[in-house]
Amino acid sequence: MYVCLCKAVTDRDIARAIDGGARSVEDVTRCTGAGSACGTCREAIAAAAQAAAGEAPGGCAVAGANVAKRSEPGQLVALRILAAIVST
Ligand code: FES
Repeated sequence: MYVCLCKAVTDRDIARAIDGGARSVEDVTRCTGAGSACGTCREAIAAAAQAAAGEAPGGCAVAGANVAKRSEPGQLVALRILAAIVST
């Protein structure tokens, strides 16, 4: 499901960014581009990032560095993103 229509970023793309270590909206934006245009999706991104916050240092694993260990499967993160979208 698309979370960011402007940049065609899906919930799976965001879950992958979070799996890779993204822990803030800025991290997810840097990794995926989501939230970098109109900003409508930033609340949903923030909910997903908040769910993952505190687990590991922020960052982006695009370059293969700073890969975080996750205690929550990416699918659960995707569900949290969907819940945030539905509640807005
Ligand atoms: S919907 Fe994500 S920046 Fe517009």
